[in-house]
Amino acid sequence: SYVLYHDQIIKSGSIPVDPEDRGYLFGDGIYEVVFVYDRKPFAFNEHFDRFEQSAKKLELAMPYDIATFKHLTEELITKNNIVNGMVYIQMTRGVAPRNHLYERNMQSVVTGFAKSVSLDSIEKSQSNGIQTYLTEDIRWLRCDIKSLNLLGNVMAKRKAADFDCQEAIQHRDGTVTEGSSSNVFIVKNGTLKTHPATNLILNGITRQIVINLAEKLQIPVLEESFTVDELTGADEVFITSTTMEVTPVVQLRGNKEQAYKIGPVTAELQKQFKTQIQ
Ligand code: PDD
Repeated sequence: SYVLYHDQIIKSGSIPVDPEDRGYLFGDGIYEVVFVYDRKPFAFNEHFDRFEQSAKKLELAMPYDIATFKHLTEELITKNNIVNGMVYIQMTRGVAPRNHLYERNMQSVVTGFAKSVSLDSIEKSQSNGIQTYLTEDIRWLRCDIKSLNLLGNVMAKRKAADFDCQEAIQHRDGTVTEGSSSNVFIVKNGTLKTHPATNLILNGITRQIVINLAEKLQIPVLEESFTVDELTGADEVFITSTTMEVTPVVQLRGNKEQAYKIGPVTAELQKQFKTQIQ
C-alpha cells in the first residue's frame, strides 16, 4: 500500500519514523478521518477547516495549503484503489530533543494512510442499532481539538467493549458530552438535542451535517447540554461520526440501563444523510 509522508505518496514501510517526534513523545499533534464514498473524499473542505483550526489552537505550522492536502488525499485514494473507505491524516509538531516546552518555528510532520471499509458492517449497525455503555468523561478540557491524545477515549471504548457495547456515552457530572469517537443526539417529543460545540466535545462534521439536515426537515434542534436522566428518558438516541454516519442506539448499559427503539426521527435523518453521500 501507499502512505503519505510530508508532501509525497510513497510505498508503506519506507517512511522514517523518528522516536524523537513530538507526536510519539507528547501526543503533540492532530489528525482527521475523512470518509471515501465511491472513490471521492466526503466533506473534505469541512474536515480540512477543522484540521486548520486544531493546528491553530496548538500553534502547529501548516506546511502547505488546502489544495495540496486535497490533491495528496486524492492521490492516496487512487494509488490505494479505495472505492469505499477512509483516509487518515496526521500532523505532529515534528522532531526535537525531548522537552515539554515547544518552539514555535518547528517543521510539522505530516503522515497518512487510506484503508478500504466494508459498507456492509456500517449498514448492519445502522439497521439494527448499537449498544452503548454509560461512563464518566475523564478527558481533558480541550476536547474541541482533534488531538492525538486519545487515552480517555480509548479507555472509554475498551470499557464499553467489555460490556458488549460498540460505543461509550460519556458524561461529566451527569451531563452527557459525547461518545468515545462520536457525537450523541437524543430525541424527545420530536425535538433533537445535542451538546453544544464547546470545549467539552469535538464538533463533529457529521454532527453539523445532521443539524443542517434537521433544520431543512423542520425538525427542531437544540444545541443544549442534556443530563443522563434526559438520556434515559429519551424517545430516541443516536450517534454520529464519519465512520458510523447516523447510527441508532438501542441499549444503554452501565449505572443506568435503558432500551430504545429505532424511531422515526433517527430513521429519517439516516435516510437523508444517505442522499448527501451519493
Ligand atoms: N472520530 N467526537 C469524537 C471524540 C470523535 O473522535 C469523533 C470522530 C467525533 C465525530 O466527528 P466526525 O463526525 O467529524 O467524524 C466526535 C473519528 C471518526 C475517529 O477518531 O476515528
